[in-house]
Amino acid sequence: MPNPSHEIRIARPEDVAGMATCHADAFPGRGTSSMGDGWLRFLYQFYLDADMNVSMVAVGSNGEIEGIAVGGDKKLFGQYRKASARRFPLRLAWRTIVDPAVRRPVLNLLKGMITPKRGNSVPATTADPGMAGLLSIGVRPRTRGSGLAGQLIGGFERQCMELGFSSAQLSVADSNERARRFYEKAGWVAEDRKDGSSVLYRKTFRARESSATC
Ligand SMILES: CC(C)(COP(=O)(O)OP(=O)(O)OC[C@H]1O[C@@H](n2cnc3c(N)ncnc32)[C@H](O)[C@@H]1OP(=O)(O)O)[C@@H](O)C(=O)NCCC(=O)NCCS
Repeated sequence: MPNPSHEIRIARPEDVAGMATCHADAFPGRGTSSMGDGWLRFLYQFYLDADMNVSMVAVGSNGEIEGIAVGGDKKLFGQYRKASARRFPLRLAWRTIVDPAVRRPVLNLLKGMITPKRGNSVPATTADPGMAGLLSIGVRPRTRGSGLAGQLIGGFERQCMELGFSSAQLSVADSNERARRFYEKAGWVAEDRKDGSSVLYRKTFRARESSATC
């Protein structure tokens, strides 16, 4: 249901600080949040500066950012990972040692780099150049259950279609039941397990399809 007290719009450069704050509020204790505000600002600045980014924000009547849905070309995530490691090498090394939420994805990444890929170990869909990736979607706890997240993902999907993407993919923790239910309600389909703990979802866009959730 549309939420008239919030504006859903494409993110602007001046939104970066608010997006970082919103991320920290929506994902407390998760790996990227624990890297700190400077890292989060770097993340959203990186995406906003990139070609083929899809970055939506929900802005409340007080001007605060209540929700974010950010992604775009799937190559951006790898580029961001490299750029952030170059920008914050010591912080990354330290957090990898002390924080299991950071250590797990870093070890998975390293494992993926040294393990030879078997023929069918990568889902065929990841090779689709028309596929976007949804990096993060989150709304502040006080805004959950309001329908705002549905509007945000609808805006994200429309913007993907505007840029010519034919589908989008995301990865979510198997245990994140609320998010999984949310994605399924918005028409995303679980398609593969990346590893034991996360699930890939995909949504295919049809021409002139209006969003499933708005
Ligand atoms: C994921 C998120 C964006 C969804 O927004 P939301 O406002 O919570 O979405 P909804 O209120 O539509 O809830 C989704 C569904 O989960 C259900 N749900 C509510 N609370 C739940 C809970 N504690 N456990 C499991 N399901 C729950 C809701 O009932 C709803 O289904 P229904 O409408 O069929 O009843 C939001 O919860 C969020 O920001 N979570 C933290 C960040 C995050 O995990 N993002 C996803 C990372 S991949």
